[in-house]
Amino acid sequence: MRIDILCLFPEMFASAFAQSIIKRAKERGLIDIVLHNIRDYTHDKHRTVDEYPYGGGPGMVLKPEPVFEAVEAVEQQLNTSEIPIILLTPQGRLFNQQVARELVLYSHLMLICGHYEGIDERVRRHLATDEISIGDYVLSSGELAAMVIVDAIVRLIPGVLGSATSASSDSHSNGLLEYPQYTRPRVYRGWSVPSVLLSGNHSEIALWRRQQAILRTAKRRPDLIKKVTLSDKEKEWISENLLNRK
Ligand code: ADE
Repeated sequence: MRIDILCLFPEMFASAFAQSIIKRAKERGLIDIVLHNIRDYTHDKHRTVDEYPYGGGPGMVLKPEPVFEAVEAVEQQLNTSEIPIILLTPQGRLFNQQVARELVLYSHLMLICGHYEGIDERVRRHLATDEISIGDYVLSSGELAAMVIVDAIVRLIPGVLGSATSASSDSHSNGLLEYPQYTRPRVYRGWSVPSVLLSGNHSEIALWRRQQAILRTAKRRPDLIKKVTLSDKEKEWISENLLNRK
């Protein structure tokens, strides 16, 4: 998979993409992340990327020309205009695990990181094919949103994570939050690991984990639990346990 990121501060990505899972995915040739500085597509002496908004008001607005030219240059390089062009903006559709699963199916993606008070509306209307927000808050830079999205997508690429099942047990992958995890020591400061996890009984462990994931989701995210299909037995079990456990 290749992801082209068009932004004003490409240096911001250096550390985030040089560690851990993304680093490994790059080394294994599973992901190619190409950064482009929008400022390189200006033609004036001052390399101007922003201007005052027409009609007045606070802040600056990202100009359309360098953004269009940067996207077109990438399309030309790749010899295609079929790549999704995703504008990162708090006005976009909300990013979640489902959207990550949708995006990982593409072999190419282009991300445009906005800045300043906003971006010229013509970029939205006539260039971007999608707009994504990573949450209902405003960041000073779309670069941070791009890092979040790239990270969530890359861990879904087959072969990126060590074990084939580790992404499928992540929170949200089956609509539930993840079950509680424990490792050594068996007792820490008097707090013991639940005995079922030491039992070696795999079906008991799987049942316990499923129940814990359901319980945790029901308590913390009632909005999510409504969307999960539960068996009658599970529903009964939840109503019995919801009131009296942490
Ligand atoms: N740029 C600024 N805020 C953002 C957000 N919440 N999501 C995506 N891009 C952004």
